[in-house]
Amino acid sequence: MNIRLDDKRAAVTGGNSGIGEAIALCLAEAGARVAINYVTHPEAADALVRRIREKGGTAMAIRADVSDPEAIAAMFERIDAAWGGIDILVNNAGIDGTRAFGWEADIAAWRKVIEVNLLGAFYCARQALQRMVPQKGGVILSTSSVHEEIAWSGYSAYTASKAAVGMLTKTLAQEAAPHGVRVLAVAPGAVRTPINRSVWSDPENMRDLLEKIPLERIGEPEEIARMVVVLASDIASYVTGRTIFVDGGMTDYPDFAHGG
Ligand code: BGC
Repeated sequence: MNIRLDDKRAAVTGGNSGIGEAIALCLAEAGARVAINYVTHPEAADALVRRIREKGGTAMAIRADVSDPEAIAAMFERIDAAWGGIDILVNNAGIDGTRAFGWEADIAAWRKVIEVNLLGAFYCARQALQRMVPQKGGVILSTSSVHEEIAWSGYSAYTASKAAVGMLTKTLAQEAAPHGVRVLAVAPGAVRTPINRSVWSDPENMRDLLEKIPLERIGEPEEIARMVVVLASDIASYVTGRTIFVDGGMTDYPDFAHGG
């Protein structure tokens, strides 16, 4: 099966590192034009644009903070000006915040996680839907997390934001389905990216982590990106309103392999 997204117009938020970078590359390999959104490290965004162009693809980098609705409106206008609209939005920008119990959490830090992970996804989805609904087609995919479902001590803002992204996905999917627009989320487990370097670069932390993963290994960014490409393509033409878990079985609760 050959998955092609030739000439589709795509945007990936947080597209210059980690899972977002892999998604941008995979979309471009499948033939899509890719707008790489970022806030920090412009050099990484530029390098990625060059990599895609060297392989014959089309890409551009756009700086915009997803938690700023005006900046996001301007980003979509730039994509309109370049490509005349959008077919695929990947809401990937996210932060996990500072680890703290709820009663000790700094309110500004807690709010920032919600602003980036939830409001950011909504601002981008809103702009995308304003274009996809009238054109009667498009796909919106958000990067959620296993922590949409699994509680995670010290990260109440992160888990709350990801659970909310799951329900945002379902509700927008219901609204947009009659207009030919699919809305989905992908929930990665532990993937080797900068967000969790402190875990996979430390043998003790890694041992603890692997006990939580039935497939007994950490995921690679490409393993998430490949699922995003499948879901963005017509192969998934009958799939909408769901979070797809790509987690090596983490949400299969491996502790229950014995006892219980
Ligand atoms: C977090 C990672 C973590 C993984 C599994 C992800 O959502 O960003 O830091 O390793 O969940 O717990």
